Amino acid sequence: MSDQSSFDKPRLAVLGLGHVGLPTALGFVELGWEVIGADDDASKVAMIQSGQAPFYEPGLNDLLARGLASGRLTLCHCVEEAVRAATILFVCVGTPQKETGEADLSQVEAVARVIARNLNGYKLIVEKSTVPAITAQWIKKTVARFAKLVDATGRQAAEFDVASNPEFLQEGKALENIFHPDRIVVGVESERARALLERLYHPLGCPILFTNVSTAELTKHAANVFLSTKISFINMMADLCEEVGADVTQVALGIGLDPRIGRAFLNAGIGFGGYCFPKDLRAFMYLAKEHGVDCGLLEEVENLNLQRVALFVKKVRQAVWVLQGKKLAVLGLAFKGGTDDIRESPALRIVKALLGEGARLRVHDPKAIEATRQELPPQAGCLEYCPSPYEAAREAHALLILTDWEEYRELDLARLHELMEVPVIVDGRNLLNAEAARSAGFEYVDIGRSSAPPRLKAYRSGP
Ligand code: UGA
Repeated sequence: MSDQSSFDKPRLAVLGLGHVGLPTALGFVELGWEVIGADDDASKVAMIQSGQAPFYEPGLNDLLARGLASGRLTLCHCVEEAVRAATILFVCVGTPQKETGEADLSQVEAVARVIARNLNGYKLIVEKSTVPAITAQWIKKTVARFAKLVDATGRQAAEFDVASNPEFLQEGKALENIFHPDRIVVGVESERARALLERLYHPLGCPILFTNVSTAELTKHAANVFLSTKISFINMMADLCEEVGADVTQVALGIGLDPRIGRAFLNAGIGFGGYCFPKDLRAFMYLAKEHGVDCGLLEEVENLNLQRVALFVKKVRQAVWVLQGKKLAVLGLAFKGGTDDIRESPALRIVKALLGEGARLRVHDPKAIEATRQELPPQAGCLEYCPSPYEAAREAHALLILTDWEEYRELDLARLHELMEVPVIVDGRNLLNAEAARSAGFEYVDIGRSSAPPRLKAYRSGP
């Protein structure tokens, strides 16, 4: 194959069509590239081919419809075929965690071997999955070994590059992040790889940071770990605010207006979840420990996060007294608003803890009920899934807000008040306006927005 022709109009392959791969593939199609999307799960590919994304992401089905109509998107369940047909290969397979916290890179390794066996010309292999630093080195070695490209002197004898181009997509905002990124990070080892990726991303008009490959890999992990740290920090602050009669949202604003700190990711609540932060935090700690770097700071970030569920259940207990037999309306199951994803959802952990204490739950979520039902089937009288927040609230002894869905901000408080047996709200996301809730007649409990006078403690004076 002529390398010149592939440089003129390289075809892209996206290997793995999950939460990262599918939006990435459709984003490139929209930007005018020819893309082959491959996933070895044939039923997932068939679903996408039929015009239905396998998960909820705002705007994704419309983008998929446009992609299918454009003629620039090919879908297949044969990864080999996609590798042979394309020049730039985006590796978007899962990197779940092992028991130890270490990232399980078996899917990455498997793809590297498929690439090795189908190396029919120059390939630029781009890691998009979140992986620990130096994974690219392993991909490079694996491809060279399995393609039998290493000659007797140990020199690599065929052309391919490995680059790292981590994604910073947030579920629920993936398309916004794809078309209007705040930065693109690209780790490369050759001019050729740099030129190809620059050509791909230049039209987006955002800063492109070129680094070496390990730096790009580490940058992704560092971003997620830093954001998790901000969340645990503000949650700790919220606990203290409750003790001293301060308001954590105002503290967040007061420090966040300082551009050195920034207001984002300082929302106190029931803790961070999802497929990324908890897993990446553990994988990062594993990596740090392996290299002898003290990561005690991050252990605390994780501990603080794990405590959030028990602290919230305690808040509910303090609000309703005995949990056994209490009818609770639960609003929200997804790990955050804007997604149907319940992986590592703190909301789900709270639901399970409350069921364990004998509470009777009527639950609502705008998108995540189906996924939850599979993990937690309904139990008559104990766990019922409801089509609206108002249905969930019927005759409840308290209403709990566990996911920050925008539509919960707009709840009709008077209607809720009428439907509930006891007007108590425990807001795990500080979603409602406390004053409005209280003036609508609710006993309202939130996270760290204390209106209560400080709990007086006697301080020891002097040594
Ligand atoms: C996160 C990162 O934000 C993305 O940049 C990254 O690309 C992605 O992981 C990934 O590695 O693939 P995501 O998992 O979609 O994105 O969710 P976030 O919006 O970051 O929220 C994570 C968790 O933190 C949620 O449970 C959310 O409710 C919680 N959170 C977030 C807070 O508790 N407080 C905040 O102020 C912000």
